[in-house]
Amino acid sequence: MSNLLVTDIGCLVTNERSIDGTPLGIIHDAAFSVTDGKISWVGSRSEVKVSEHKNVVSAKGKTVIPGFVDSHNHLVFAGDRAAEFSARMQGQPYAAGGINYTVEQTRSASDEELRANVAALVAEGLTSGTTTVEIKSGYGLSVADELRSLEIAREFTEETTFLGAHVVPTEFKSAPEDYVAMVCGPMLEAVAPLAKWIDVFCDRGAFTPAQTRQILKAGIAKGLLPRLHANQLEPGEGIKVGVELGAASVDHISHFDDSDIAALANSKTVATFLPGAEFSTRSEYPDARPMFAAGINVAIASDCNPGTSYTTNLPLMIALAVREMFFTPEQALWSATKGGALALRRKDVGHLSVGAKADFSILSSTSYLHLAYRPGVNLIEQVWRNGNQIS
Ligand code: NIG
Ligand code: FE
Repeated sequence: MSNLLVTDIGCLVTNERSIDGTPLGIIHDAAFSVTDGKISWVGSRSEVKVSEHKNVVSAKGKTVIPGFVDSHNHLVFAGDRAAEFSARMQGQPYAAGGINYTVEQTRSASDEELRANVAALVAEGLTSGTTTVEIKSGYGLSVADELRSLEIAREFTEETTFLGAHVVPTEFKSAPEDYVAMVCGPMLEAVAPLAKWIDVFCDRGAFTPAQTRQILKAGIAKGLLPRLHANQLEPGEGIKVGVELGAASVDHISHFDDSDIAALANSKTVATFLPGAEFSTRSEYPDARPMFAAGINVAIASDCNPGTSYTTNLPLMIALAVREMFFTPEQALWSATKGGALALRRKDVGHLSVGAKADFSILSSTSYLHLAYRPGVNLIEQVWRNGNQIS
């Protein structure tokens, strides 16, 4: 007997291509069962025997989608940068330097304040359908503050990322190579047990391609898996460095050319777009169509952080990706679910097929198209994780 049957689903998005030949793997008039937190059966509502299930939930003809997998976030920080945002909206350009303001605030915050901020942001994401979240450090930038950032992140997710190489902190401004040595040495040594991933901000005002290689290689040698902030502020070698080192994902990628596409097309690296950063820095949105045309796996994530994208809302990211980056609504939904899972090398989330975690949302709408078509409207009616309703 299953613990749960979800039935009367007007449109079920499974992300299982074998079902209908499309990436979203849609079943109309569907149902699925959940046993011990995992999907145990998926099929047509007409095949269901209600008596074989302990609890029955009716989706009332609405759409059910996999929980969002938000693969890129910076949630461990204190304070905000509303004034910087306001100045930007009056014409100031974004520069990586603002990060050091948040570093100051974060260092002087208590563990409780930082923990409460992460908890609030994770809860906020949950209500908009995010059931798996990646959290980076990167506003501590000292051994002790990176360590406590990752300790706190670990309380919320197993997808923790060491981003000691976010920017060079103010006290190392005149000796950036000393900071790189500290990141690769004592800082990495301290945080390695707490992080699954290592990330570097490879861009103007942050770290060079050579420093990026050095830092990622040091992380890999310690058993961490690489991912990268690449080509956000200007074109550069970031995407290629990520591919060369086997990064699970290169993120932002606001600037790319044919050679970057060729590199990604011959790799397993996911191309992750972060439309919230273009939105909040009033930057030009990249056109994702060449990535799809080349068959590259694409993800979208919210990049929640106080500087460039202070939002946890993946439905808004879907709407922006469709409207501004030329994703189809189907590509955008897939990218926020299965794409995010691939970017985190996770097979158990991002889809609703037998064996997957029962992480899903019931929309208040009969069509997933409404996620892009009704921007800013809360369409996430219920959120379930491991077969339990949590929102
Ligand atoms: O992903 N690009 C680097 N890091 C963040 C911004 C951090 C900040 O400005 O505080 C990002 O956009
Ligand atoms: Fe980021």
